[in-house]
Amino acid sequence: MRALAIAGVALLAACSAEPDATSTQPNGALQPVSITLPAEIAALPATPAGELVTQRCTACHSADMIARQPPLTAEKWQATVTKMREAYHAPISPADEPAIVAALVTLQGAPARR
Ligand code: HEC
Repeated sequence: MRALAIAGVALLAACSAEPDATSTQPNGALQPVSITLPAEIAALPATPAGELVTQRCTACHSADMIARQPPLTAEKWQATVTKMREAYHAPISPADEPAIVAALVTLQGAPARR
């Protein structure tokens, strides 16, 4: 907490310092900046794995959200799928979980469709 307060004071000091010539105009006005976001992954691959995950997960999540998860082990995906079913009532039968987990693992690293 104390470190945070010190960091906050340091940040305030930095903000009130001389304006940075590269980000402001001579009169001190801010200049617009732009960032480029990655293109959205609109759909999972048109493979059996992609279709299964689309069917079971995209009622609540975008394909992009599913596709951008970090590479997870089958064990971690298993925990996520079980959590989706138990905590969030995803319409998944426990008997279908192994196939869904395998599909999620298969999809990781698959080329994205944009
Ligand atoms: C009935 C809706 C629903 C379905 C279907 C669903 N989820 Fe979720 N999911 C949620 C909710 C709600 C959260 C929590 C969102 C938050 O915390 O912002 C979540 C969170 C997540 C997260 C974030 C990490 C976490 O553990 O909270 C991941 C990854 C995820 N879901 C993957 C999946 C996958 C893969 C499927 C398909 C097998 C799926 N979800 C199906 C509702 C759903």
